Amino acid sequence: MTNPDSVSERIQQLRDEIDRHNHLYYVLDDPQIPDSEYDRLLRELQGLEAEHPELITPDSPTQRVGAEPLKAFDQVQHRLPMLSLDNAFSEDEFAAFERRVQERLGIDGEILFCAEPKLDGLAVSLRYEAGVLVQAATRGDGSQGEDVTHNVRTIPSVPLRLLGKGWPGILEVRGEVFMPKAGFLRFNETARRLGEKEFVNPRNAAAGSLRQLDPKITATRPLDMFCYGFGEIEGGNLADSHSASIVMLKQWGLRISPELRTLSGLKQCAEYFEQIAGRRDALEYDIDGVVYKVDRLADQEKLGFVARSPRWAIARKFPAQEELTRVESIEFQVGRTGAITPVARLEPVFVGGVTVSNATLHNMDEVAKKDVRVGDTVFVRRAGDVIPEVVRVLPERRETNAQPVQLPTTCPECGSDVIKPEGEAVARCSGGLYCSAQRKEAIKHFASRRAMDIEGLGDKLVEMIVDNGMVSDLADIYSLSHAQIAGLERMGDKSAENLIQALEKSKHTTLARFLYALGIREVGEVTAAALADHFRDLKAIMQAQVLDFIQVAGIKGIGRATADAIAEYFSENQNVAVDGELQEWLAGLGIRGLNSKIAQRIAARYATQEEFYQALQSDAMCYVNRSLIEGIGPVMAEHIVAFFHQTHNLEVIQKLLDAGIHWDEVATPAIETQTLAGKSFVITGTLSRPRSEFKEDLQALGAKVVGSVSKKTDYLLAGSDAGSKLAKAQQLGITILDEEGLKQLLVELE
Ligand code: IVH
Repeated sequence: MTNPDSVSERIQQLRDEIDRHNHLYYVLDDPQIPDSEYDRLLRELQGLEAEHPELITPDSPTQRVGAEPLKAFDQVQHRLPMLSLDNAFSEDEFAAFERRVQERLGIDGEILFCAEPKLDGLAVSLRYEAGVLVQAATRGDGSQGEDVTHNVRTIPSVPLRLLGKGWPGILEVRGEVFMPKAGFLRFNETARRLGEKEFVNPRNAAAGSLRQLDPKITATRPLDMFCYGFGEIEGGNLADSHSASIVMLKQWGLRISPELRTLSGLKQCAEYFEQIAGRRDALEYDIDGVVYKVDRLADQEKLGFVARSPRWAIARKFPAQEELTRVESIEFQVGRTGAITPVARLEPVFVGGVTVSNATLHNMDEVAKKDVRVGDTVFVRRAGDVIPEVVRVLPERRETNAQPVQLPTTCPECGSDVIKPEGEAVARCSGGLYCSAQRKEAIKHFASRRAMDIEGLGDKLVEMIVDNGMVSDLADIYSLSHAQIAGLERMGDKSAENLIQALEKSKHTTLARFLYALGIREVGEVTAAALADHFRDLKAIMQAQVLDFIQVAGIKGIGRATADAIAEYFSENQNVAVDGELQEWLAGLGIRGLNSKIAQRIAARYATQEEFYQALQSDAMCYVNRSLIEGIGPVMAEHIVAFFHQTHNLEVIQKLLDAGIHWDEVATPAIETQTLAGKSFVITGTLSRPRSEFKEDLQALGAKVVGSVSKKTDYLLAGSDAGSKLAKAQQLGITILDEEGLKQLLVELE
């Protein structure tokens, strides 16, 4: 495609197509093509743009992450102020609001409201000019905010260009940027693993992510945005009502709350509030109330605003989630992995709908940072269904001579030494399963709903079983007798019978659940599922080494595309002589993505040019620090390997399997039976699908796919226009396959 018109047409076609699929995926939750197809479109566009950089425009889907980090944020003057909302804390206060609206509008009857949840994120204003996103700004003080365009552009549900037609020439849209709860938990899990800073809640995480100077960082954060209002509008009109105008935003590709409703009168408004409050914990994002807006825009205009809040809107807030109370004592709890957690015992206080008398202090570093002491008056927070925590101390209310708390030197449960490794925040009991507290927690976790799901084996019962010395490890729960259980306090024949049945039932499980139930440090449900999916066999996991989890550590800054480009270059240009210093030479080759900084890192990594060439013989992926299994980094891999190396753990697993725990085989063939295991492939030439797809397919069958042909290569998969690799393979007498030949081979090997 050399004709410039057809190139730019194709580029436009691809952008439209990609924008459409982005919208289906991120805004409508309704993907219509597989990821591989989407990737193919994106790659084609990237390829064309690389060949024709003059055709790149800022609204191209390839341009979400801008090139360079900012030095500082620019200030943005909002053309229309970004208002805040008045609050109502009860139904009466809401009724008073409705009355004021009625009086001002001179209406007797019911008022139509547009209602939706009040998101707990941060307000952002998007400015579209001629349908293109030109600016995004935070609320700031309402009249002046910060320019966060570079970061907001990375949020996949925010369109860089509006879809459809009929949008005003200038359209300012306001909404809330937030981090969904699941993304927040995942983010913190990773941060914890890497020893990086965790965020206290999704709101702070969203704010912190938007306040990054480097958009590449923001791009990795799972942010989303719902739009709920308008700023400046010129060169076009919206609808007559707020709700219809918001629906127009949806048609233009912006994301709006799926909970948006129009409601008439107090009764409907109250029902909606109850309904949302009841589903609060189940929603995928944090909310702190419901916002009601008078729906008719003409009425909004009549009502106007006072100070900083409109008279036509109100936020009905959920009951307070933060309260003041007093710390009665600080105790230490021992968790499943022996982690010793300081817990504040509190004067009971009603927070966010429940009475709270304990709050976690996380670890000793937190205690020191917040400087919490016995007798202190503190703020306690309970957000959704998470464990209540101490937010901060009011130092002015501290009693004189209140002493800082010390970490105990021995475990409060079993008396073993407490160990706090240098540089780690968590202190641990060294007693292992000798420590009854750890045994209890291990069994509670094992029996929990998302693990082995042993109905009826609740916390109280586990405690009794361990306190009575009935189990020495968790596998022993399967040998409990009817008589033993029935003999426990408040247990009878019937409940013993039920528990025995529940234990029996739990034996049929899945590999993922079983792995999760074992309570390997760092291995949560997601990781357990990834392990089961990847290895498909318990034995394979038990025998895996760290390197089976992690590919060779890579060079910072080299992504998959650059690694592939480097391997590609050197396999096409075999044995080119290095001219001058390795670094300058590399940087001068014109390989996509290989700039002088990366060249410097490569040069620093390899002592000699010989070594560098040797590295090139192996897979391009040796440059990329990529875990084979999503979410598993070196530290977690170490934990997993260490777990399966402990004799005690192996014994427990054997006992559990002997007790009859089993699962259905995971669908695809296990590693050992993979038809292409141990075979090395090189792919070249033009095939019917992108080479990367063939690579993935071959890898899934156990093959190793490398960048260049050598004596060790078993097969060359060659498409049309194959060049030097084909020649080399012929020279070395390597089996050459076309696509048909590959199919044939797979049939033969089956
Ligand atoms: S409407 C003029 N709707 O609440 C009214 N605000 O307390 C503009 N907020 O700064 C706001 N969810 O950050 C509106 N569905 C929603 C909201 C919402 C969250 C925030 C917004 C605003 C603050 C005001």
